[in-house]
Amino acid sequence: MIKKVAPVFSLNGTITPPPDKSISQRAAIFALMHDGISVIKNYSPAEDPQSTLGCVQLLGAEVSQLDGVVTIEGCGRYGVRALSDELDCGNSGTAMRLLSGVLVGAGTAVYLIGDPSLSSRTMKRIIDPLEQMGAHILARNGEFAPMFVTREDPLVPIEYMLPIASAQLKSCILLAGLFGETPTKVIENVPSRDHTERLLNLNVEEENGVRVISASLKDEIPNQSYTIPADFSAAAFWLVAGCIMSDSEIRMKNVGLNPTRTGLLNILVQMGADITIENEGMVGAEPVGDIIVRSSRLYKIDIKKEFIPNCIDELPIISVAMLFAEGISVISGAEELRHKETDRIKAITRILEAVGANFEEMEDGLVIHGDPDFKFNSANFQSFHDHRIAMASAILSLKGNSESEIEDAESAAVSYKSFWEDLEVLSK
Ligand code: S3P
Repeated sequence: MIKKVAPVFSLNGTITPPPDKSISQRAAIFALMHDGISVIKNYSPAEDPQSTLGCVQLLGAEVSQLDGVVTIEGCGRYGVRALSDELDCGNSGTAMRLLSGVLVGAGTAVYLIGDPSLSSRTMKRIIDPLEQMGAHILARNGEFAPMFVTREDPLVPIEYMLPIASAQLKSCILLAGLFGETPTKVIENVPSRDHTERLLNLNVEEENGVRVISASLKDEIPNQSYTIPADFSAAAFWLVAGCIMSDSEIRMKNVGLNPTRTGLLNILVQMGADITIENEGMVGAEPVGDIIVRSSRLYKIDIKKEFIPNCIDELPIISVAMLFAEGISVISGAEELRHKETDRIKAITRILEAVGANFEEMEDGLVIHGDPDFKFNSANFQSFHDHRIAMASAILSLKGNSESEIEDAESAAVSYKSFWEDLEVLSK
């Protein structure tokens, strides 16, 4: 679908962004492994979390869904068994990587498949540690889905130092570790999102910034009955839009404020943004609050490697903020962006090219020459079937002099089904 987006002068109003994708998917997988019934409120209707629900059903959970409330009767760790030859993870790296850990732990055999984007993303990072744990994995060219996963040998608990800061990799190993007699330990030097540790209440030791997270059979898998917060990564598009559009004020309610996710808040504040947080509280294990953003003049920023995991999904929209910020901004140490739903460094360069921006591409990031008065007429944006690229292009389109086009705009629904409706609400 080609979406035409006309420029608007300002964005105003109140919205509740969609339920968090990462937390929804974890809630479904952990509820499968819990022995009992979990009632998950505000479960995400987006495509990735729905793919995960389909998979947990095929692994033995009873699932029903009504008005955003998902009820899952889990089968307990020992009850996890593949009821089908294959599990379709759609576009979701989180589903494929986390479920691989569960399958290896449970020792059940199945093919994991995904769409063309997911089938082109490397699974090598999970294959290596899972094989150390006793798994047998057959992947296309040794690293891509379709991937056959099984384990016949005894599970071997491991101590694993993460070679890349990845919450998907960390969670995959810990989920397999939950089936071991002795603890599996994952060591991370740079913190990545910690929803898995929080929602499973795993033991975390922290010293000098190094975190050691353990999981074994002794860890009870808690009931997953809670309300999923709104997705900070979805709110991110409106946070940037609220800054760069004139005369704007956007309020967002009940947004997840987990500090391992909110790097963009600190980045925007450092750039000069006018952002207020109200009604802070906890929903289950996760902090939430309302966010208010108002138009403001932004200034350049330099985002370095150690800050990347905290804003990894927000980098496409951060690049849009940088384009409208005074001075030269830099993103470096973000090589991981090349392994997302598409090569997002390349995709961002295509967005910037489409509007005639001044930038340089680096192997691990970008240099963007910003200007608060940056102008372009209209553009044709390719989204590369990547939800975050489609939505970042939409926000940029609002700043054109005339209507722009976004190709494959339906991909927004991978994480944000009501994105286009919310854009209309705020544009009125
Ligand atoms: C996710 C972790 C991140 C993120 C992805 C969701 C998760 O990936 O980019 O959108 O739910 O654990 P990595 O952990 O591989 O960086």
